[in-house]
Amino acid sequence: MPKELNFKQELTGCFGFPVAENPTQAMIEPAYRSMGLDWRYLTLEVRPENLAAAVAGARAFSFRGFNCTIPHKVAVIQHLDGLGESAALMGAVNCVVNRDGQFIGENTDGKGFTATFRELADPRGKSLVLLGAGGAARAIGVEMALAGCTKITLVNRDEKRGRDLEALFRGKLRETVKSQGSDLAVNYVRWQGDFRVPDGTDILVNATSIGLYPDVNARIPLAMETVSTETIVADVIPNPPTTRLVHEARAKGCRVIDGLAMLVGQGVIGVEYWTGKRPDAAVMRRALEEVFAQVDNRFPR
Ligand SMILES: NC(=O)c1ccc[n+]([C@@H]2O[C@H](COP(=O)([O-])OP(=O)(O)OC[C@H]3O[C@@H](n4cnc5c(N)ncnc54)[C@H](OP(=O)(O)O)[C@@H]3O)[C@@H](O)[C@H]2O)c1
Repeated sequence: MPKELNFKQELTGCFGFPVAENPTQAMIEPAYRSMGLDWRYLTLEVRPENLAAAVAGARAFSFRGFNCTIPHKVAVIQHLDGLGESAALMGAVNCVVNRDGQFIGENTDGKGFTATFRELADPRGKSLVLLGAGGAARAIGVEMALAGCTKITLVNRDEKRGRDLEALFRGKLRETVKSQGSDLAVNYVRWQGDFRVPDGTDILVNATSIGLYPDVNARIPLAMETVSTETIVADVIPNPPTTRLVHEARAKGCRVIDGLAMLVGQGVIGVEYWTGKRPDAAVMRRALEEVFAQVDNRFPR
């Protein structure tokens, strides 16, 4: 049988502005190659005023899906045909999936985190401390609660932002969790000075941007002596993979989830949504490690 010639690639990508430093292409295209798929993942600069046209373009080109990053995660919703459960709860989309011609918005950030967490422990009944109240904290809080976490302490510097997220978690999220037969206790703590981690905390997550390259030496205001060795410590910062927090938590003997694991975790789910097949997470992690190794991102510098 002659092999059929096919010069048409399936298209996926990332819409953002600015977007040039977004490394997602570097992990997704190797994943496609290792799956034997002649697919592309394009890093596409989309200015806010061009978002509607960009989504229309993605429809015209029959994109299989695309990621959205800053500043499009909320604005893209008005251009879509529907939302998955957690994207609707969060009011933010980072992954659009073409399902039979319908563009459906999903949020894979928290799902990627939760999938990585499950490799270490069962989220059910756990107590979570979230440092930060931005998009990453929102995504992780929603998914960990849907996965069975029963207590969330939100710690944020800006009170308004902290209180807004507390209201979302105590309202729509708690209702959804209760409808699933579980419950959720939420409290907000204003971040002043070094935060002391409460006894009984199962998971501590840095969901702030503190420590992101090039500020690799930046210190999170946190009393490390209050972090128990029983607590699983996670950092959302993917670059560098070993942040100051990751370094110090490992030195204490805590189990640790680094930001690269979360980035790969959300990428795995995105590729699975788009292709229907599970990619190899190890291929994706290696590809990103190679990219980040090209800059001097080690802590301490
Ligand atoms: N690994 C992954 O897959 C993944 C996925 C998504 C995001 N991320 C990373 O997560 C980080 C946060 O992203 P985001 O979308 O949540 O950003 P965001 O919405 O802008 O929120 C940033 C958060 O960080 C806090 N913050 C920043 N600097 C601080 C400081 N010096 N002291 C105390 N708090 C500080 C902010 O607090 P205030 O409200 O007080 O300003 C806010 O809560 C980024 O670095 C991003 O790269 C990683």
